[in-house]
Amino acid sequence: MEKFYLTTPIYYPSGKFHIGTAYTEVLADFIKKYKKLQGYDTFMLTGVDEHGQKIEDKAKDSEMDPKAYVDIQANNAINLWKKMKIDYSKFMRTTDDYHEIAVQKIFERFLSQGDIYKGEYEGWYCKPCESYFTETQLVDGKCPDCGREVRKMKEEAYFFNMKKYADRLLKYYEENQDFIKPEFRKNEMINNFIKPGLEDLCVTRTSFSWGIKVKSDPKHVIYVWLDALTNYLTALGYTSENDELYKKYWPADLQIVGKDIARFHLIYWPIFLMALDLPLPKTILVHNWITMKDGKMSKSKGNVIYPEQLIERYGLDATKYFLLREIPVATDGVFSPEEFVDRYNYDLCNDLSNLLNRTISMINKYFDGLVPNYNGTPNEVDETLENDAIEVISKFEDYMNKYEIANAIQSIWTLVSRTNKYIDETSPWALAKEVDGETEEDKVNRIDKLKSCMYHLVANLKQIAIMIRPFMEETSDNILRQLGISNNVSWDSLKDYKKIENIKVIEKGEPIFMRLDQQEEVEYIKNLMKV
Ligand code: ME8
Ligand code: MG
Repeated sequence: MEKFYLTTPIYYPSGKFHIGTAYTEVLADFIKKYKKLQGYDTFMLTGVDEHGQKIEDKAKDSEMDPKAYVDIQANNAINLWKKMKIDYSKFMRTTDDYHEIAVQKIFERFLSQGDIYKGEYEGWYCKPCESYFTETQLVDGKCPDCGREVRKMKEEAYFFNMKKYADRLLKYYEENQDFIKPEFRKNEMINNFIKPGLEDLCVTRTSFSWGIKVKSDPKHVIYVWLDALTNYLTALGYTSENDELYKKYWPADLQIVGKDIARFHLIYWPIFLMALDLPLPKTILVHNWITMKDGKMSKSKGNVIYPEQLIERYGLDATKYFLLREIPVATDGVFSPEEFVDRYNYDLCNDLSNLLNRTISMINKYFDGLVPNYNGTPNEVDETLENDAIEVISKFEDYMNKYEIANAIQSIWTLVSRTNKYIDETSPWALAKEVDGETEEDKVNRIDKLKSCMYHLVANLKQIAIMIRPFMEETSDNILRQLGISNNVSWDSLKDYKKIENIKVIEKGEPIFMRLDQQEEVEYIKNLMKV
């Protein structure tokens, strides 16, 4: 079995996650479940990034010991992922022993190799981002990442010699076209950071203590990005005696990160790996952000939506559907209550739920619920439908291979529309009517067409149920159950039209999505944003 190792960033455990933060996790979970369905041996890593000044300060604000504070926060994250049915394989914490030990070993190795040296740091520091910037990197004297105030800091510190690896990194980018997706992110790194001259990275701090200490010089705490980035290795047991997972899964097949942390993952991370003499991940996927009509989501602006709020009212599947379909990986996506309700009403209710309902009621009406078996020689209309469906499935696979996620999801709905259109094309209600004076042969032909039509509707619904399964599992189960198909499905059977045999649909179809009152729900969501 081929392995597939994918990672999300480890999250800062410092408050509730809004739908933007949850997006990275939902995206990773979808890709993981898709790969699993395809038969890969998958491993998905997630977790929390618990060290650093920011967390230390937050704990102080709550009058808590930092460890007690992060314990609570880590639990909140675990509970949210449980509610969202995120199927990660491991939840890692940077306060875990094995991680701290491994980071210390990695640091000492870099030191002994001469990749890390001691110097003095003077620079502009953005506390919320935990990033240092040079004068030239600042935008209007403020943090180039978040736009907030920065302050000048000077301290004895260790540095990682990034310059030494700059050419090797450029060469790697060039020779490995799949390494960075989407491609414009690569050019951004080259033009904004590498070409102007890579600065050495400050990798320790002395001004706070909540972090992993340098073994050979314990007044220094390891700078959070060296601590954090290496989690992708340490979580698998790298440098420990128990490194089976590491041996099995490294290098990562896919690492997913938001655009704000692209620089750390596309420059520093590969350089750390080069210094460790390790293979690099196959692909790093950078996704854009979910914003609101009035810009960035923030508590102070009063425009934040939390995933729990949407899930409670509209269900998990609708929430995931919206996030994945509406937020393109390569541009920012805007959340608006109107769009959310429209997508729910049009895509989920009108298109999908009604397709299932119409199909079930016709099969009950015409064949007492028994789905006719495949008749071997599809007529032209049915054959065209089969070909169209198979083309959509191939397109979907293509998009998934390129990690064009919103396009992949949208392509499933072209199959939903195509299937709805097929009902209009075949007019089964007309096929079901006796024709005055028809011959026995005409009658047999007519009924055959009707049978074939019912079969194809069920076959397409099964395809749709399998394709949505990795992000709408409950809906997928529901569709399959109503059709009388076992949910023991695999990706392989998807393009085979002849596989469904002797099944009986449920006697009375149950709507999977009910129409929402547009005005009422838009109001409802707007109110959520105010609290
Ligand atoms: O960055 N839309 O953690 P984090 C989409 N600890 N994605 C968003 C978003 C939005 N509005 N807001 C945040 C960290 N994210 C570090 C990572 S990895 C070694 C260390 C995404 O909790 C963000 O881009 O601040 C990132 O992918 C994830 O949420 C976690 O962010
Ligand atoms: Mg962040």
